[in-house]
Amino acid sequence: NAGVFTYDPGYTSTASCDSTITFIDGDKGELLHRGYPIDQLAGKSHYLEVCYLLLYGELPSPAQLEDFESRVTNHTMIHEQMHFLFRGFRRDAHPMAIMVGVVGALSAFYHDSTDISDPWQREVASIRMIAKMPTIAAMAYKYTIGQPFEYPRNNLDYASNFLRMCFAVPAEDYEVNPILSRAMDRIFTLHADHEQNASTSTVRLASSSGANPFACIAAGIACLWGPAHGGANQACLEMLREIGTPNRIPEFIARAKDKDDPFRLMGFGHRVYKNFDPRATVMKQSADEVLELLGIENNPTLQVAKELERQALADPYFAEKKLFPNVDFYSGIILEAMGFPTSMFTPIFAVSRTIGWISQWKEMIADPQLKIGRPRQLYKGETLRDYVDIEKR
Ligand code: SDX
Repeated sequence: NAGVFTYDPGYTSTASCDSTITFIDGDKGELLHRGYPIDQLAGKSHYLEVCYLLLYGELPSPAQLEDFESRVTNHTMIHEQMHFLFRGFRRDAHPMAIMVGVVGALSAFYHDSTDISDPWQREVASIRMIAKMPTIAAMAYKYTIGQPFEYPRNNLDYASNFLRMCFAVPAEDYEVNPILSRAMDRIFTLHADHEQNASTSTVRLASSSGANPFACIAAGIACLWGPAHGGANQACLEMLREIGTPNRIPEFIARAKDKDDPFRLMGFGHRVYKNFDPRATVMKQSADEVLELLGIENNPTLQVAKELERQALADPYFAEKKLFPNVDFYSGIILEAMGFPTSMFTPIFAVSRTIGWISQWKEMIADPQLKIGRPRQLYKGETLRDYVDIEKR
């Protein structure tokens, strides 16, 4: 429930909203989606079933799941005219820049799901966003590597469809590796929703003005891109590559502890978790499994990550400040092993988090007491004073 809590510098703030979707206990390192622990969902469920749970509040019956998966599958293509949008970007554009632009433009193509006062249109917009994000992300990737777009296939599951759209080429047949598909689905599940993080709060604030859902999701993508948030998975892998070998780890830990050095350990720390991020625990297990199944368990980046984690957790600085690996610490290692460039790590986070943004948007829009978000401030500027003519200055 909306509560009031006081924190430095001595002013109070209120919780941003009520919600029934996701619960985090940062001290215990607990994450529940509609009451179900994330480790059980990651181990026993799959992404589209978690999407249903987040969106409608309950686990689906077999018939409900089949209907939901069919509705999502049959919305995975985007309007053919949208293909021309991609051609306006330079080939070296970051895929996140393309996604912000293309998703923001969806309302120009899907007029029949922009009126948020209509429950049917809200439902169609939700399904369209979940369905089209993997297609848009894969097209952004293909465009930046100069390969032709691959169309979605209705005979593939969500994760397999995404992998095929990213890695298939017309010149040869492509079979999705089930190990990679399962790992991809688990990464989607682990990033699905996370309470009122910066990008979800951005979507909620944008939506509170009545803006259409596609524009609000584009705002969330823009916010997620930041290296302190969803951009951390890309920054973390680049940091692990820069460290290169375990014997350079002390140098980077010293930099992270140096107040005068802006460097921070990417993939470490969290605004809420003051214990292990439960997603990071599952992600680490998944990294071990996937790399072993791929026969690259001695991957140097994974070895550096594990040694960095060991040394950081043994260091009093990190223990005192309660800094632990977060969801971004191991995800990049798996994505790199799948063949993705680091520039695709945050777009994959955006694909996954779309269900979280949409579920939180839907919850907020349905609130009859909804008012436009209007944060106040603590004014610390000049007090009242009269204008001085330029001749007298
Ligand atoms: C995500 O909100 C969410 O839920 C986000 C997310 C989601 O699913 O949506 O979980 C996804 O964004 C995970 C976080 C990804 N970002 C990173 O990994 C980037 C590296 N981490 C940091 O930038 C940082 O930890 C933040 C931004 C995540 C949190 O920063 P805060 O708010 O400063 O954290 P804090 O208040 O707990 O920090 C306590 C102290 C501070 O020092 P003092 O001011 O007390 O002297 O620890 C320091 C921080 O400076 N600190 C770090 C550190 N993170 C915090 N020092 C070194 N390395 C770090 N990574």
